[in-house]
Amino acid sequence: MARPPRLSRRGLLRTVGTTTALAACKPPKAHEAAPPEDVEVLGPEPIPVTFLLDGRRVRAKVPVQRTLQVCLQEDLGCTAPKAPCDRGACGGCLVRLDGVAVPSCTMLAADADGRCVDTAAHPDPPPLLAALRRAFVAHDAAQCGYCTAGMITAAWDLLDRAPEPAALDEAAVRRAMAGNLCRCGTHRAVVRAILDVAGRKETW
Ligand code: FES
Ligand code: FES
Repeated sequence: MARPPRLSRRGLLRTVGTTTALAACKPPKAHEAAPPEDVEVLGPEPIPVTFLLDGRRVRAKVPVQRTLQVCLQEDLGCTAPKAPCDRGACGGCLVRLDGVAVPSCTMLAADADGRCVDTAAHPDPPPLLAALRRAFVAHDAAQCGYCTAGMITAAWDLLDRAPEPAALDEAAVRRAMAGNLCRCGTHRAVVRAILDVAGRKETW
């Protein structure tokens, strides 16, 4: 009677490894390779984006992977939102997108197309933003200034969307500003500046 072939441990591993490698190399099926027809494929060449930046219509041609923060700084010369961490952890790059604060380092410039982007450097600031900028100066709430545009944007978002800004107390402001980090340690002055503006709603 014929004996079954002996399979050594090394032979088994070689066989399994080869099979796995071949499976991994299988060409994708047609339905996996082609994107659905109703999906717009962007890139690899740069794409045009148009949006309102601080009330002005701007255009840029950007690589698809470019973040909004880099687009603002390098394509549009808007240097207010900085990128201290570049990973959504410090609030230094905050902008308001359609009226809501978002970190511009974690969103693509392409996703701003057709939308409104507002920064702390708005050349024609709404009264609340103007009041915050004055209060930051009056309370000495900036040292090197690297985090300041993000701080002001977060404060602007907070007071603009609070049902009753005057009702905010120090704990509430601290909680709301917890995502904004300052390496120079200006947090206490920042909170004082925000409470000052919050308590004077009739002036903005
Ligand atoms: S640079 Fe965007 S959150 Fe820090
Ligand atoms: S003022 Fe320097 S990091 Fe905040």
